[in-house]
Amino acid sequence: MTGIVVLVSGSGTNLQALIDATADPAYGVRILGVGADRAGITGLHRAGAAGIPTFVCRVEDYPTRAQWDAALAERIGDHDPAFVVSAGFMKLLGPEVLGRYTVLNTHPALLPAFPGAHAVRDALAAGAEVTGCTVHVVDAGVDTGPVLAQVSVPILPGDTEDTLHERIKAVEHPLLVQVVGRAAREGITVIDGKASIP
Ligand code: GAR
Repeated sequence: MTGIVVLVSGSGTNLQALIDATADPAYGVRILGVGADRAGITGLHRAGAAGIPTFVCRVEDYPTRAQWDAALAERIGDHDPAFVVSAGFMKLLGPEVLGRYTVLNTHPALLPAFPGAHAVRDALAAGAEVTGCTVHVVDAGVDTGPVLAQVSVPILPGDTEDTLHERIKAVEHPLLVQVVGRAAREGITVIDGKASIP
């Protein structure tokens, strides 16, 4: 069984998909802890309902971003995970966390297109006909790390940010579950900026 920590900032529907997948022991993943950058969010309630320990590490509670980064690395380290999953965690991770852990991130666009915090809105604003979701390994940049898997989603006439994001999430959840499971069971290799699962 491979232990992971999941980081969330909001509704936690991706976290819920992972929680549901871990009900099957053959999935090979145990969620040891769920961390957030804010209190009171639905993602933390989902973790609590599943009996998973939670922690909150808020940027505003530390004098510097570097100290927050170090504290977050410590809080993650309390659970000693094999790797970390950023599932809607809306803060850029710093060198302490990234130096200690491999972090997988799910992003609601076909990277390298539409990086950043407003990927769904940006794809609509650009008039794109296709977008999607990406699971990638986090590096020091903004959604620039090596891609592990992607699924495309058509943008339909009349789509709003909400309708499009819901359709993206419908394919994002199974993609994240699949990639995290494979990474847990088989391991992840990153060589020369290319990520692969054997
Ligand atoms: C997900 O669609 C995730 O890809 C996105 O936030 C949503 C979180 O939903 N992440 C980003 O935009 C990161 N740049 P959830 O809280 O319901 O899982």
